[in-house]
Amino acid sequence: MTHEVGGWSGTDEGPAARAQLRCVDAGRDRSYVVWTTRGLVTEGRSPDALHALVDDRQVLVVATPTVAALVGDCVVGTVNESAASVDLLVIAVDETTKTMRAVEHVCERACTLRLEREAIIVALGGGICTDIVTVAASMIRRGVRNIRLPTTLVGQVDASIGIKGAVNFRGKKSALGVFHPPTAVFVDSSALATLPRTSVSDGIAEVLKVALLGNRPLFDLLEEDPTEILDTRCTSGRGDEIVALALEAMLTELGPNLYEDRSYARRVDFGHTFSPVLEAGLGFRISHGAAVAIDLALSFAISLERGAIDHDAFDRVVRVLKAYELPVYTPHLTVDLCRSALAEAIRHRGGSLNLVAPDGLASVTFCQDQTSIERSLSGAIGHLASMHARDVVHAT
Ligand SMILES: NC(=O)c1ccc[n+]([C@@H]2O[C@H](COP(=O)([O-])OP(=O)(O)OC[C@H]3O[C@@H](n4cnc5c(N)ncnc54)[C@H](O)[C@@H]3O)[C@@H](O)[C@H]2O)c1
Ligand SMILES: [Zn+2]
Repeated sequence: MTHEVGGWSGTDEGPAARAQLRCVDAGRDRSYVVWTTRGLVTEGRSPDALHALVDDRQVLVVATPTVAALVGDCVVGTVNESAASVDLLVIAVDETTKTMRAVEHVCERACTLRLEREAIIVALGGGICTDIVTVAASMIRRGVRNIRLPTTLVGQVDASIGIKGAVNFRGKKSALGVFHPPTAVFVDSSALATLPRTSVSDGIAEVLKVALLGNRPLFDLLEEDPTEILDTRCTSGRGDEIVALALEAMLTELGPNLYEDRSYARRVDFGHTFSPVLEAGLGFRISHGAAVAIDLALSFAISLERGAIDHDAFDRVVRVLKAYELPVYTPHLTVDLCRSALAEAIRHRGGSLNLVAPDGLASVTFCQDQTSIERSLSGAIGHLASMHARDVVHAT
């Protein structure tokens, strides 16, 4: 092999290979706190921790139009109590426009405002907003502080509490992204009260994901009263308990492998093998939560086909998904689409399938047997189609 180093070339045996000077430790010592609060976003009841972080810095708050209209003034007013300056940027984005263009939009405003190195960008909104802001914050001055105020259930139990941010690129889900830890996350349960019902369903798909990884108390709680959870937008006592358990479970899963450099076998990828390809295949006209729900249902159907679980476990999971008004099937879910999702998963997971496969109601294992999975796809999709058809027949 021949190397070119600054116009100086050599072989593995030659001078370029011998030019190593020293090994540089590129590690970073970072941590952040996830706070639970009530009334920060909706009533301006700000915890001291927020003001301690803002500490006379420039702040740019980024929100989507709905959230800005609901609570933008309140949050700007609260942050303004301890900031040097506060500006609000409203970005109209959805999954189809969650791209680098949206990231640039945030970067452009940061430049216009001449944001300093010590400035803070606050992401106020759902997972789309926090993802875009995370990517932008990682790039502005090669990384500025980022505080997250998640206002959706998906955001509160998943998107805002980890260190990843990503946007869609060339029609591919989350194809460009970063690891950029937040400075802090403030989870305000009162923010959920104004959510559309479908957005609560979306969040429940992510909650169900962590429950099915092995948290039986959380699964049982989810089964208790789905109507109440949807009607109250997850803000009842039971809803609070669900959010708390899901948050705890999710952080426990993410914590040991935040940068995904320990292993590509991640249990939190449950529900996220087929869903990205389904989302992209539908031109992002399906919500993330709905796609995750179909992926979870498919994963159980595959396990049923392979004899790893019994009908009771499959039926129970499908029943819960439906009770939360989530889909378990779409005609776009084809064997070809699933095969391409498996191939992409292998590329993304360092050459291994690492498919999170249920082997019980709240118990999973990693499956590497691509051939066996592919053989079960047609039957599994058939199970889901018939569960779906049953609903359609009942509804007519
Ligand atoms: N980075 C990660 O680790 C991670 C994890 C999970 C999901 N995600 C991403 O999150 C995104 C989905 O997030 P989402 O489900 O929050 O969707 P979203 O961000 O689109 O929010 C849903 C809608 O609800 C509105 N909204 C938000 N808060 C509201 C409130 N309190 N009241 C009324 N309306 C409100 C928003 O304006 C938006 O129109 C996906 O793009 C997914 O890829 C990222
Ligand atoms: Zn997800």
